[in-house]
Amino acid sequence: MRHLTRVFDLNTYEIKLLLEKAFFLKESFKYGQPRRSLTGKVLALLFEKPSTRTRVSFEAGMQRLGGTTIFLSSKDLQLSRGEPLKDTARVLSRYVDAIVVRTFGQEVVEELARWARVPVINGLSDQHHPCQGLSDVMTVIEKKGDITKLKVAWVGDGNNVAHSWMEMAARLGFHLWLACPEGYDPDPEIRAEVEKEAPGVIHLVRDPKEAVRDADVINTDVWASMGQEKEAEERKKVFSPYQVNAELLKYAKPDAIVLHCLPAHRGEEITEEVLEGPQAVVWDQAENKMWLHMALLEWLLTG
Ligand code: CP
Ligand code: NVA
Repeated sequence: MRHLTRVFDLNTYEIKLLLEKAFFLKESFKYGQPRRSLTGKVLALLFEKPSTRTRVSFEAGMQRLGGTTIFLSSKDLQLSRGEPLKDTARVLSRYVDAIVVRTFGQEVVEELARWARVPVINGLSDQHHPCQGLSDVMTVIEKKGDITKLKVAWVGDGNNVAHSWMEMAARLGFHLWLACPEGYDPDPEIRAEVEKEAPGVIHLVRDPKEAVRDADVINTDVWASMGQEKEAEERKKVFSPYQVNAELLKYAKPDAIVLHCLPAHRGEEITEEVLEGPQAVVWDQAENKMWLHMALLEWLLTG
């Protein structure tokens, strides 16, 4: 039984295989080739936080492959009345073939994975967003080719998406420059694990210009993630020098691409001009989530 609780659940070979499969699915659907590899399979989505892309891309992807989905907000389950996760996991496993979970603590994902008898996929926790890391790298490869030859920058919060990018850097061997304000670095434990797996791939700096200088890829995300709403005002002050704007882009290569996992807060972490400008690839990035999720579901459910 395989789960995807974080990128490090996968080895390099498996990541490359998933990326190849995602490109293949994208190409074959473009030519209208029907594929019903998941007929009769049922996917449950257990979400404790809102979602547009992750939810809809998993649901649409499952249906495109012939499967069906059940969306469950945690409010509707007996979980909300205190039924233990381990019981929920064992019961859901008798009904469905895989579970996508979006939650707060990573320990919730891990507890579900421990008890489920079907694959559990992390659709975002406070610590990790592995599906995002995987599909974002797909977008970089699609636009720029071999990622190991690129300078990749992350500007802003050392958050869940940043952690998954760091683990992708370790597994694929590309260098990742992160510019984070003091106090908002990536989790030191995750950083240590990444350093152990792949010494020297992570470069943590304070100055966004240093991270972005001659970069091929610039990545950012919101300054206050879901669950941090109370810190939003304070974070706006701390993060203001970390905005991805036209001025910062001047330091990157002229053909650098800009990624944002979305939803974006225009005028905060990214300007309208950059988000709507020619270097942003965010809509293709959002689309690729679906192809990557389809590849992941096929791999987990059919081997
Ligand atoms: N990028 C992403 O995970 O978006 P949603 O929150 O809309 O799922
Ligand atoms: N870091 C953001 C990502 C949203 C897709 C959050 O956790 O809210």
